[in-house]
Amino acid sequence: MASIRQIVIFSQGEYAGMNLDGIREEISRCRRCALCEHRRLSVPGEGPCPAEVMLIGEAPGAQEDLQGRPFVGRAGAVLDRALSQAGLQRDRLFITNVVKCRPPSNRRPLQGEIRACRSYLEAQIELVRPRVVCLLGNVPTQALLGMQGVTALHGQVIEGHLVTFHPAAVLRRAELEPLLISDLAQIGGLI
Ligand code: URA
Repeated sequence: MASIRQIVIFSQGEYAGMNLDGIREEISRCRRCALCEHRRLSVPGEGPCPAEVMLIGEAPGAQEDLQGRPFVGRAGAVLDRALSQAGLQRDRLFITNVVKCRPPSNRRPLQGEIRACRSYLEAQIELVRPRVVCLLGNVPTQALLGMQGVTALHGQVIEGHLVTFHPAAVLRRAELEPLLISDLAQIGGLI
């Protein structure tokens, strides 16, 4: 995949000439909002480029902040289990978050933080060119579709975006796990 990744670059705009590694570099130096003050590592996201499927979560938690990788803590374990039950291989998906640095005490990212990070996410979507974008929870659903209410929306595909629960919600409400799995299982039929 490395050679493909090298040729997927922007030709114009803010990130002209950059590939995903360039965006990663920008994120690691980013000081556009106050989250940079307390981060250990930024968490740009990971996966192949291009990729048929992109998963978008909310923001890094404690483990992600330590390791610089998305979904490697408790929510990540739920996600890994759900992906495998849904017949998906994690390493074939591009996984990222709306916000690339950890909010203090894992609070929800603020609107200003989401806005500050927005162009990184848009650049990643452009470069990765997914056929399906899977939105994990209310924060990415609001950020990308301007809609709230994952409980009602989950399982729906809206403008190429499949809405489902955030894996952390499964940690609080185990009964959501089969719903997360069945939503993710739709992805195979969409690509
Ligand atoms: N929650 C998220 O939304 N993203 C992560 O990377 C980890 C936990």
